[in-house]
Amino acid sequence: MSSVRKILVTSALPYANAPLHLGHILEYTQTDIWTRFQKIRGNDCYYVCADDAHGTAIMLTADEQQISPEEHIKKMQASHEADFSDFLIDVDHFHSTHSDENKILVELIYKRLVDRGFIVQKAIVQSYDSKKEIFLADRYIKGQCPKCKAFDQYGDNCEICGATYQATELINPISVLSGTTPVTKESIHYFFKLSEFTDYLKSWTSGKHLQPEVSNKLREWLNDGLKDWDISRDAPYFGFKIPGTSKKYFYVWLDAPIGYMASFKALCKKNDINFDTFWSSDSKAELYHFIGKDIVNFHALFWPAILESTGFRTPTEIAVHGFVTINGLKMSKSRGTFINARDYLEHLDPEYLRYYYASKLSRSIDDVDLNFDDFVQKVNSDLVGKVVNIASRCAKFVTHGNAGVLSKTIHNSELLGKVSGISVTIARLYEKRDFSGVVRLIMAEADSINEYITASEPWKLNKDEEKKQEVQDICSLGINLFRILMIYLKPILPKTAKASEVFLNDELNWSGITRPLTDHQIETFSPMIKRIDKNSIESMLSGNKAYSNEKVTAKIKADVNLNAVEEVEIEEFQKIDLRIAKIIKAETVQGADKLVKLTLDIGTETRQVLSGIKSAYLPEQLEGRLTLMIANIAPREMRFGTSHGMVLAASSKNGVYLLEPDIGAAPGQRVT
Ligand code: MSP
Ligand code: ZN
Repeated sequence: MSSVRKILVTSALPYANAPLHLGHILEYTQTDIWTRFQKIRGNDCYYVCADDAHGTAIMLTADEQQISPEEHIKKMQASHEADFSDFLIDVDHFHSTHSDENKILVELIYKRLVDRGFIVQKAIVQSYDSKKEIFLADRYIKGQCPKCKAFDQYGDNCEICGATYQATELINPISVLSGTTPVTKESIHYFFKLSEFTDYLKSWTSGKHLQPEVSNKLREWLNDGLKDWDISRDAPYFGFKIPGTSKKYFYVWLDAPIGYMASFKALCKKNDINFDTFWSSDSKAELYHFIGKDIVNFHALFWPAILESTGFRTPTEIAVHGFVTINGLKMSKSRGTFINARDYLEHLDPEYLRYYYASKLSRSIDDVDLNFDDFVQKVNSDLVGKVVNIASRCAKFVTHGNAGVLSKTIHNSELLGKVSGISVTIARLYEKRDFSGVVRLIMAEADSINEYITASEPWKLNKDEEKKQEVQDICSLGINLFRILMIYLKPILPKTAKASEVFLNDELNWSGITRPLTDHQIETFSPMIKRIDKNSIESMLSGNKAYSNEKVTAKIKADVNLNAVEEVEIEEFQKIDLRIAKIIKAETVQGADKLVKLTLDIGTETRQVLSGIKSAYLPEQLEGRLTLMIANIAPREMRFGTSHGMVLAASSKNGVYLLEPDIGAAPGQRVT
């Protein structure tokens, strides 16, 4: 059969400036499932990751918190590692790009680039904040769009008209960091001669290393030809200094992918593995990078070119996935609208999400929507209602009727053969990262196993003394079939698989698929996974300021965007019953740490609204104030009661701000 493969797997390194959110968890779950599959198949497979610890953003965040960048990244790494562990993401090593291993490798690679003539110096002109004494990346400059004149646009493109431009073209630009007007300043930068790799990359990206959609996208860029890549940044910067300079640093995106190698290097030291077997230019080992579609150019253009030009092997495959949306809405860090991994873990079992993501993941780069109704339905009906149900239906007969010992023979070898026979297809689907295909196939088998049990009616047969052996045979087969399904599901549900191993008194291995358990003692059944309680989702969401505000901001944004790109009819807007409301009472809600219960006078009646503004206001600060509310929004059931309307608040990552009308407005007045 197939020989043992040597496989190194990585996930994109999370930035060490924020906690992980459920978007990250999609990627880390996808990588973890694939790695666990390779391991359960007996391959020599390693999974490494690290924190991406360098760059301006991290330096500024640390400044804001008045701590050193080192202290900041240490805290972040601890938080990331805890999230990995609690989501059952089993990395073999988690490192940091701010490490000795990485510094040594970055300097080695840079030296080779210089020696081989791939580095050139060029003077460039950039915006500079003379108050903060720092060069400004585009996202730190705002001003008026040179094309449509919209205010408050970033230095690279306009969110309103879509124009792209140079930061220096903005009208009345200001530095986001100091509020002063940037000046322009010249500085020498170091460039990697990426342009010389256009032909090499044209061929590399059209091969088997990428999904076809990704290749196609890259072809568009490659056809325009590649420009040299700026790999340096001026001080102040948090990163590695470029050898031989005093004020130049390596750009974070140069040292970040080298962090994959550095993390593996540290693992090699820990586990006595040969680094060169995996990284030398003639390596026979396989290398897979799992990434989101936003960072394809770094991994499929810059990275192979850097590796190729410095004598290292290039990736076997770049596995690209789409973005997570939550109930159809975009998650966005800069808007603060995402669900933190930790908030999820405080309310829900990680395996629910692992299963749900698996059921949606394929080779496609389409976005993955986390729809909470679908989530509850799928997990409860598939895992509890179908798979665990098989064991639950059969175990009691074996436990009570035969002291927990499975029958000596297989009752229906045709059915057993059918369920074990799909193992080849399941393995092929896992290998191709088509986890949704894996799940679909397993659930189809779970359905037929349940049908078999229903049709066999062991509970009826058990009333007849002469049929007792048949009952044992049916239920023993049921348990064996459950076991095979759990072997298939083990990479997705490691915790449930472990609990099943205890119940089955057997270790779940791929080779066990064709070796059913006969005359074998099992343990007493207790459910390995519980149903999702819908209330847990409500309390996660209502407690999540980012999410509840997202709904409001998304609506408002949609209106703003409609005004900008296509007109909205006044009738459309008038459908919203937007009114002045007076807060006559504000109360804390027992058990809810983010919610306030508001009693509102809206002229014609009083309304009870639950609002996620507790973090910003004490109840007594709210009483007597006027605000705006949407009175005709559908009532929303929450764990702590029903909310009959929505109060408007502006939000940013800095806080929540209740909207107030001008003096003189009165409760009940409609906003038109
Ligand atoms: N630090 C870089 C990666 C360097 S790799 C040498 C980075 N970090 S990140 O924290 O922004 O993202 C880490 C990974 O999470 C990326 O692959 C990114 O695509 C992925 N995701 C971030 N938000 C996501 C969603 N909303 N949905 C799915 N994946 C998302 O990029
Ligand atoms: Zn514009």
